[in-house]
Amino acid sequence: MRPIDGPKLADRLQAIPPFHVMEIVRIAEALEASGVDVIHLEVGEPDFPTSPSVIERACSALHAGKTRYTDARGIQPLRDALSQWYQGQGLDVPASRIQITVGASGGLLLSAAATTNAGDAVLMADPAYPCNPRFVEAVGGVVHWIPTNASTQFQPRCAQLEDMATERDRSLMLAHPANPTGQAVPAIELERMIQWCRNTQRHLIVDEIYQNLAFTQGLQSSLAFSNEHFVIGSFSKYFNMTGWRLGWMVIPDYALEATQRLAQHLFICAPSFAQEAALACFEPDAMRAAEAHRIELQARRDLLIPRLEAMGFEIAADPDGAFYVFVDASNVTQNSQQFCMDLIRQTGVAITPGVDFSETLPPTWIRIAYTQPIARLEEAMQRMASFIHG
Ligand SMILES: Cc1ncc(COP(=O)(O)O)c(C=O)c1O
Repeated sequence: MRPIDGPKLADRLQAIPPFHVMEIVRIAEALEASGVDVIHLEVGEPDFPTSPSVIERACSALHAGKTRYTDARGIQPLRDALSQWYQGQGLDVPASRIQITVGASGGLLLSAAATTNAGDAVLMADPAYPCNPRFVEAVGGVVHWIPTNASTQFQPRCAQLEDMATERDRSLMLAHPANPTGQAVPAIELERMIQWCRNTQRHLIVDEIYQNLAFTQGLQSSLAFSNEHFVIGSFSKYFNMTGWRLGWMVIPDYALEATQRLAQHLFICAPSFAQEAALACFEPDAMRAAEAHRIELQARRDLLIPRLEAMGFEIAADPDGAFYVFVDASNVTQNSQQFCMDLIRQTGVAITPGVDFSETLPPTWIRIAYTQPIARLEEAMQRMASFIHG
């Protein structure tokens, strides 16, 4: 496409790579338009609906005129509900440290803006959620990638940080469990990295939006080890509220007042009626549904893994949570982008090439999101097996 003339855009726009999965999405849309049954395993959002009680609460809130700005920190009852929820998990997180945000995305941008000066570097594992570098770059920072591999479930190790960190690295950003792998940071490493950040005076930001979607018994929040770092949470995944744009951030005391001030300037507040509606998430029916969904996701993972392994895909370790499995397809293809395009064209199964998540891994990785009911996953596995083995 010929560029349209206009004033020069910011340099950071040049650095934004295209999402390779968009090519898969484009083919999927064209196939669906022509009547093909497409099975979507490419999108990072749960297929479960938002709880009816949350929807009812949103409607009543709208009718009651809850359509105006709220307190910039979020409405007090929601901050209290989150604090109590943490308390139920054995974590002492006072409501005063909880900032309601516009999704986890708002929290990630806010934490990057609160901790990064222009030119500062942020340590981040490769592979990563592809929007993370953008939050850092948006505030003038750069990413210092930490190479990882399957032997450490694609999570960094503290010894690596000790070896590679430079003066320029002002913070460490972790995801626990991570996208695209669903792998968590082992507790011992989490403790070490928390300690390392403390000793070296670096900020720590831990994205825990999948922490409640953990399958591993006792997978602990990083808040169990320290209250001196930023933690990002979200209603998007565990409560199936991706479109409501609601999340939260737990802010360490040393950054509390300044970060809240910045939040007010950047966002004013998170959507008011969504905040009111989210209060219903903590009622027994919605909590029961969320828990049932987590168990369903675990059953899906347990169905997929042996089926994928039987097709020749390699999986380093069972994902600890979320709804992703990151597989090495090198026994099947040396070009996962081409493989994903051929697969969607010939079978209608849409999955995501790993290049969208990594600067350094060979182009043989694939992310599969198990965001379809079991019967659809079975169907997808059958189609993939016949595609691979004929
Ligand atoms: C690791 C990770 N963090 C943050 C987000 C963004 O979540 P939200 O919808 O709460 O902005 C996503 C979305 O897929 C994600 O995978």
